[in-house]
Amino acid sequence: MGKKYLYLETYGCQMNVYDSDKVRSVLDAELTNDPGKADIVIINTCAIREKADQKAFSSLGRFKHLKVRKPNMILGVGGCVAQLYGERLLENFPHLDLVFGTRTIPLLPELISRVEREKRRRVEISFDVEEVFEFEPYHEEGRVTAFVSVQQGCNKRCSYCIVPHVRGEETNRAVGDILNETNKLVKKGVREVTLIGQTVNSWKRGEYKFGDLLKIVGEIEELLRIRFTTSYPRDFTKKLIESIRDVPQVCHHLHLPVQSGSNRVLERMGRTYTREWYIDIIKRIRDAVPDMAVTTDIIVGFPGETESDFEDTMRLLEEVGFDGTFSFKFSPRPETPAAEYYDSVSDKTAGRRLTELQEFQREITVKKNQSRVGEIEEVLIEGESKNDPNWVTGRTSHNRIVNLPGGADLRGKLARVEITEGFQNSLRGRLIENQKEVSHVS
Ligand code: 5AD
Repeated sequence: MGKKYLYLETYGCQMNVYDSDKVRSVLDAELTNDPGKADIVIINTCAIREKADQKAFSSLGRFKHLKVRKPNMILGVGGCVAQLYGERLLENFPHLDLVFGTRTIPLLPELISRVEREKRRRVEISFDVEEVFEFEPYHEEGRVTAFVSVQQGCNKRCSYCIVPHVRGEETNRAVGDILNETNKLVKKGVREVTLIGQTVNSWKRGEYKFGDLLKIVGEIEELLRIRFTTSYPRDFTKKLIESIRDVPQVCHHLHLPVQSGSNRVLERMGRTYTREWYIDIIKRIRDAVPDMAVTTDIIVGFPGETESDFEDTMRLLEEVGFDGTFSFKFSPRPETPAAEYYDSVSDKTAGRRLTELQEFQREITVKKNQSRVGEIEEVLIEGESKNDPNWVTGRTSHNRIVNLPGGADLRGKLARVEITEGFQNSLRGRLIENQKEVSHVS
């Protein structure tokens, strides 16, 4: 039999994007954008907020008719919704064949062939499956950037968060495996890797801590840039800050979710730090790396959040001067303590706070972006711009998107670019003539 066709839908965070690549890699099927043509349809789901759950359900519903028309097609659901509801998904979606978890992706080929052979629907969501991290990383021809997972699961217990429940305990990947995968990607043309983990900076293995890992990955030749996400504030150490400062490939951008600027709310969230502590760690980081860009996540409308708590968050935004903020209305999640809190904030109030916060952050971001005009930045060119083949697009070390006139020959190169305009979501620039050879971000 020839190659099978796979249709894959991915929702949620970087981890899910990475997991979907893993699905592509283990199944070795041909990807198609047309579900009608697919032998296997996989939906990789997210459960972080209620809306994400609903997306997964409506997506599952959409494939019902197709499955009726093509009974031999395998319909599978993976990711965090699969992990959360397991068996119940088979009950609610009679046309579903397979439910697999966040740690059972390596078993997919076997699971699919058993469904086909035994004509029986299956659920495989155990956390105990020995993780087979060794797999050929999926890489799209010409892609300059890639994710490399260094950690699965989470050991923090934030009262609102479903992640520990659906991704299990923190497991840290071995240095050798991380290096192997990164090396393979670099051989395929990747020039920037983002090390990913739920609390990536808490990674440790044997005597190695995350700062050591940055140094080790920094030894890889031809790898121009290293990013990492998402960091947990309390796991920032002096040694880690020194590694970030000292490894030249490490980009000057941190995603450091603060969640709230109110100590009362932070405590109820179980974040284990105060507003003052967070501000202090940012100061220490900026003392070591003055141009460090910092982005964050904020939850508004957490149970019990008063107007004055919210104002504390707004003041924090101003005080820290984040380069960008991802903000969300609190959403109660199954199996989390905060779902039981009685003093919920009305949806109307949460919505108003969200709008206010986003408008305020937008002003800050635009100002920051405009302040880059006239600066010379190093931009890793990722490829042609979507709208115009005579333009290319890339990112600065600070993770700002830059569009500039240029040809495809620049792909994978670090270009020196003068910034000419700053917008809300991107910058515009022009290539500086007489490019000197740059080997890495300085
Ligand atoms: N409700 C709203 N936002 C949430 N996040 C995590 N859990 C919830 C929840 N229950 C947000 C946090 C986290 C980001 C990935 O999603 O801000 O950092």
